[in-house]
Amino acid sequence: MTVLELDEINTYYGNSHVLHDVSLELAEGEVVALLGRNGAGKTTTMRSIMGVTPPRDGTVRFDGADLDGLSPDERNELGVNLVPEDRRVFPTLTVQENLTLAHKLADDPRPVEEMYELFPVLDPLRSNQGQNMSGGEQQMLAVARALIQRPKVLLLDEPTEGLAPVIVDDLREMLHDVVSEDVTVLLSEQNVNFAFDLATRGYIIDTGEIVYEGTIEELQQRDDLLERYLAVSPEEIA
Ligand SMILES: Nc1ncnc2c1ncn2[C@@H]1O[C@H](COP(=O)(O)OP(=O)(O)O)[C@@H](O)[C@H]1O
Ligand SMILES: [Mg+2]
Repeated sequence: MTVLELDEINTYYGNSHVLHDVSLELAEGEVVALLGRNGAGKTTTMRSIMGVTPPRDGTVRFDGADLDGLSPDERNELGVNLVPEDRRVFPTLTVQENLTLAHKLADDPRPVEEMYELFPVLDPLRSNQGQNMSGGEQQMLAVARALIQRPKVLLLDEPTEGLAPVIVDDLREMLHDVVSEDVTVLLSEQNVNFAFDLATRGYIIDTGEIVYEGTIEELQQRDDLLERYLAVSPEEIA
């Protein structure tokens, strides 16, 4: 069953036409990668789905219903949850307070303790403030805050951006546990190995257009596309 569907959306910043007839769909429980280099339109796609920068035309459907006219908060309440690329945890709140706050704001939240089981890294940091955490720890907290709300669709915008390789490995391991649960994920990435490891299908976006769609298995064979659109050489693919 299709949970999220983008049908030929066009999104602008002022007069600047950024997304051109972008279509994509996510079936329930799928983890789908949105790959593309810097400036390709990944974040704009996420913001279009969330309604932060709503498309000027085309349709975003969630559970079959057109989301047009709904605010980001309303979309959030329906179960669409974005972890933005800047992570945005509350800097002066502790880990525990960040999670408790997200818990309070949700209708049918998961227990806070469950998040420490999914993200063991956070457990010893319960009383650490957001601002005193590493980028990787903040990323895990941001994902945990989203998951506590039991999203139906989780949008992860470049979660590995700026993280040290060893932290990327930790994050990958924890996300493996997360995605084995019943959540549908759209994962935007430039780190193709990270995305290949977690996703089963992928799209490539370039200058605001979807230029490829296929399974990760198919994509792994397409050195030409990875080189052209992601500047990745064949030796770099794990
Ligand atoms: N707030 C904005 N105002 C104007 N142009 C923007 C804005 N944000 C992004 N853009 C432009 O939109 C294009 C797509 O950007 P973005 O979606 O952030 O790409 P990505 O996330 O793939 O790096 C880029 O050309 C970028 O410069
Ligand atoms: Mg981006």
